[in-house]
Amino acid sequence: MSEAIPITEHTYDCVVIGAGGAGLRASLGMTSAGLKTACITKVFPTRSHTVAAQGGIGAALGNMADDNWRWHMYDTVKGSDWLGDQDAIEYMCKNAVAAVHELEHYGVPFSRNEDGKIYQRPFGGHMRDFGEAPVPRACAAADRTGHAILHTLYQQALKRDVEFFVEFIAIDLIMDEDGACRGVVAWNLEDGSIHRFQAQQTVLATGGYGRAWFSCTSAHTCTGDGHGMVARAGLPLQDMEFVQFHPTGIYGAGVLITEGARGEGGYLTNSNGERFMERYAPTAKDLASRDVVSRAMTMEIREGRGLGEDGDHIQLHLEHLGADILGERLPGISESAKVFAGVNVTQEPIPVIPTVHYNMGGIPTNIYGEVLRPTKKDPDAVCPGLMAIGEAACVSVHGANRLGTNSLLDIVVFGRAAALRARAMVTPGADQKPIAKELLDPALTRLERLRNANGAKPTADIRLAMQKTMHRDAAVFRTEKTLAEGKDSIDEIAKSIDDIRVNDRSMIWNSDLVEALELENLLDCAQATVHSALARQESRGAHAREDFPDRNDDEWMKHTIAWVDATKQVKLDYRPVHTWTLTSEAEYIEPKARVY
Ligand code: FUM
Repeated sequence: MSEAIPITEHTYDCVVIGAGGAGLRASLGMTSAGLKTACITKVFPTRSHTVAAQGGIGAALGNMADDNWRWHMYDTVKGSDWLGDQDAIEYMCKNAVAAVHELEHYGVPFSRNEDGKIYQRPFGGHMRDFGEAPVPRACAAADRTGHAILHTLYQQALKRDVEFFVEFIAIDLIMDEDGACRGVVAWNLEDGSIHRFQAQQTVLATGGYGRAWFSCTSAHTCTGDGHGMVARAGLPLQDMEFVQFHPTGIYGAGVLITEGARGEGGYLTNSNGERFMERYAPTAKDLASRDVVSRAMTMEIREGRGLGEDGDHIQLHLEHLGADILGERLPGISESAKVFAGVNVTQEPIPVIPTVHYNMGGIPTNIYGEVLRPTKKDPDAVCPGLMAIGEAACVSVHGANRLGTNSLLDIVVFGRAAALRARAMVTPGADQKPIAKELLDPALTRLERLRNANGAKPTADIRLAMQKTMHRDAAVFRTEKTLAEGKDSIDEIAKSIDDIRVNDRSMIWNSDLVEALELENLLDCAQATVHSALARQESRGAHAREDFPDRNDDEWMKHTIAWVDATKQVKLDYRPVHTWTLTSEAEYIEPKARVY
């Protein structure tokens, strides 16, 4: 197989797959350390999904009110419903302030408060004094914070000589006989050529897999490509049952309306005009943690207090904020509401519904970004040569539910951490053992199998079946029945990929083939999600089981790890949550009931 296809060979110290915030921050850190680094990306860097992040990046700067990284750590642990690893959370929250200042120095155009300091707004679950009252902690560039960060990081990466390979599709990792990663095989869409990237460290920064669901805030590119590559390399995925529904996706469009809208004073009402969050979260109200607000909205709709002809959505009010605040602080969502809901936010509420937004689970890593290959003897064992960062990874700082603004923080803190680790482990320009041709066979065989697929089912049909199943069965509320049905259904759909039809056989700009490759990745993610969710018999964070409504720390305070093999069998195991801090600067936060 490898004989037939001409392959362009590249050798780098590091290769990063993905050019969102995590991939860019890692890449520029690596080149700054003298490491020759390639960044491979399937879309132009500034089109990566980081661009869609709106409300802010979390850091206890204390620019608007007293704040402390330990309060941020407490909120993050509580938000995670005690599934997050506390050593990793300490690392992230402690490094947050420096990370935001670094972004400021790189040139991110943050909004300013009256003192000229970075503007910070309140956000869901951000509290002071260990959960006592809301604090403004989200550092914002109006409601286009991700856009500002992504463009700035791209400019910094160019300045630091990161070598970009744009519109290259990563097919598979190159794994050697000792189980180490040696690089990646990629396909150049523009001219159809195949490329082998050999590297001392390969970094997956490929984002989440929101597109496994029917309606999500994620870009069409969020197809779990890194997850799929990891699964095919025989490595596990972690905590895939934890999927965040953002409370305010625009009804019918799935487009995000930032939580920053509620941070600026917006509020939700039901069909009685009632501000129902006061019943569910008496202290934080509309600014409770996301899983809490999404469940409350779903309950209101179920109990007949939804709006619209079908009583199936909720209203978000911003009219009272006035045109000035809306124009200055929330210009992006004002435009989205107009375009996608036909709503003028200065005069009428936006119809909203909880919408899939973020995957807390992913590729398990340690705090240095190294991918884990857990064993019973060593649950923290690593896979040599392979790293993962950003939404693709599960460090785990988000546990069972991510706090808003911690995703932008995660990508810059752990993008930097991966670069620091590479600097410590990689010798610039060191000779690399030649790669045997056979090691490329799995990737090339995969590409050819799908390119020549001549079955009965178009990619779009299989994808739609998967998305509908995930939406119905891996939803805000779950039961044994819905999850068991979901498991049977998703297993069958995953097997139906053997009968896929790809119509275009060319290698140049073949979007039919790209979508088939992406679908295969999504299906691995979908299977891992539903199997892990069915097995977890408790409610924790975003995993709300109606048949097991309570959190059960005795039996379930542990990470799920899921292997999906080539025959579409899923195997589950568990590894311990890190119930310790990284340093004596932080105290371990004991589990307790989670009320807002
Ligand atoms: O609501 C938002 O602006 C989203 C932020 C986040 O997911 O962190």
